[in-house]
Amino acid sequence: MCGIVGYLGNRKASDVLVEGLSKLEYRGYDSAGVAVLEEGNVVVQKCKGRLANLEVKLDESKLEGHVGIGHTRWATHGAPSDLNSHPHTNEDGTIAAVHNGIIENYIILREWLTSEGYKFKSETDTEVIPHLVDYYYEGDLLDAVMKAAKKLEGSYAIGVISKNEPDKLVAVRKDSPLIVGLGKEENFIASDIPAVLNYTRDVYLLEDNEFVLIENQGVKIFTSKKEEVNKEVYHVTWNADAAEKGGYDHFMLKEIHEQPKAIKDTLTSRIVKGQNVTLDSITITKEQIAEIDKIYIVACGTAYHAGVVGKYAIERLAKVPVEVEVASEFRYRDPLITENTLMIVISQSGETADTLAALRLAKAENARVIAVTNVVGSSVAREADDVLYTWAGPEIAVASTKAYVTQLIAMYIISLYFAENKGTVRKSEIDKIKCALLNLSEKAAEVLNHKDLIKDFAKRICNDQDMYFLGRGLDYAVAMEGSLKLKEISYIHSEAYAAGELKHGPIALIEDDTTVIALATQEHLFDKMLSNIKEVKTRGAKVIAIAMEGHDVIEKTVDSAIYIPRVMPIVAPILSVIPLQLLSYYVSIEKGCDVDKPRNLAKSVTVE
Ligand code: M6R
Repeated sequence: MCGIVGYLGNRKASDVLVEGLSKLEYRGYDSAGVAVLEEGNVVVQKCKGRLANLEVKLDESKLEGHVGIGHTRWATHGAPSDLNSHPHTNEDGTIAAVHNGIIENYIILREWLTSEGYKFKSETDTEVIPHLVDYYYEGDLLDAVMKAAKKLEGSYAIGVISKNEPDKLVAVRKDSPLIVGLGKEENFIASDIPAVLNYTRDVYLLEDNEFVLIENQGVKIFTSKKEEVNKEVYHVTWNADAAEKGGYDHFMLKEIHEQPKAIKDTLTSRIVKGQNVTLDSITITKEQIAEIDKIYIVACGTAYHAGVVGKYAIERLAKVPVEVEVASEFRYRDPLITENTLMIVISQSGETADTLAALRLAKAENARVIAVTNVVGSSVAREADDVLYTWAGPEIAVASTKAYVTQLIAMYIISLYFAENKGTVRKSEIDKIKCALLNLSEKAAEVLNHKDLIKDFAKRICNDQDMYFLGRGLDYAVAMEGSLKLKEISYIHSEAYAAGELKHGPIALIEDDTTVIALATQEHLFDKMLSNIKEVKTRGAKVIAIAMEGHDVIEKTVDSAIYIPRVMPIVAPILSVIPLQLLSYYVSIEKGCDVDKPRNLAKSVTVE
């Protein structure tokens, strides 16, 4: 949560900072601010609300300086307000800092600094940082930041500038992402790559406890012992356009439409007709796979829902018991982890704090960890034993779409790989699934053609207060994802239920005109699902069904149906989720909500 940027070069820093922040707004948009070195002084401009508000202020203030830091906030400590916005400064305004993360010991530090005579203006945890730097400052900003960082507990990516050293920008990271953009006579820091892509494709991906010193002469990276580190330059190969809307009204719609390509890219070179599955550079051996007696899939939100599909696929194909758990629960119980446990963490961003904590817990117990993530060099990618990247490209909309379908693809790839290595399923069956996967990209494009029909449904249901999603087996997993999508971007209350569970309580919620979205793509459960649909219809529900082509018998029972192309039921989630994503999108549009930046949310949840 929160995005930070920093710039030192020849351009007008405020322009570069605002441009960078516009690419990071997905990380939070409660407030925005910059601090720029202006004629030898640190000048701060910040305000509550979207970046657009800050731009108005900056237009008036006409900052010309060439060094600065910027921040876009997702509020944790202290309500969204002008005062709590970053950057924060020391008392005389000579040092300014921006911060992404949480300083867990800020109360103790605040009390101590107060006893030393420091005065605080905001309610934030971050404000201790400029005061600490001030406390330790003896003429060298880097040294002061290093000393201050030693006092901090929690997670942070921090950028600092000072009036006393106007040609320096210092930064550090621990448990929050930070990259350095390397330009020609200009350099950058940012929470994420898209923020610098307009200026450079060469970046350093920082490790925890690495410090950055940017000066006119260039960039130096240091360990916490002030030993210089020789970093490898990572060259970004994806196109800057990938992080732009490309003619679509919203990132979410663009990302929904990118799914056929994302599916194809994630399968490429891993699933090839007539060949065994290859898992990039994954080092787990056949013997190690044979020894695994339990798999935990741990993730949050949409990634957790991908894990639920993963459980079905792995248990069915690789015949290993799988538990799927939300990371925030997993990390605080005593899960039974042994050396024969495998953990698969799924995270689009690779920076989700709870998921990362669960990964570390598993590593501490000597379990092996495979990370499924979309961000190269992210924390989970670095800390896991093996990584399987989802090649979805940058996902900017807060509501996850293309990352989800590629996470499903990753689950199928892992299941098939394990099944091949263990010999748990006949080769003919494996070949059929591979073939089904390879055809999915084309079929996903066909589902997108139902857009207009779905738009009509959205018009009909957008004023509902509540909605229910039902499914059995894999359809239940997709129902959960459909329900999350709807509530997060349209603010309509919705729940997903295993259809067979209805009569044990939830059916009491159904009354005249309640909208029910019923998924019925699983061949062997189709008749059971029809019975459940009849149960809610009898009680007045209006039902929209998602079914496979050829199952038009469903029309006798439901009010409307959307059909997905016929595929093997095991891979149907990849197609059946698409109408649900589109439905949420169009309902959100009908209601006039901010689709890409829904209230209270942020794309990347790097705090607990
Ligand atoms: O980056 P991650 O995949 O770890 O993020 C996990 C969740 O925060 C994320 O999927 C969230 O639920 C999305 N907003 C859902 O659309």
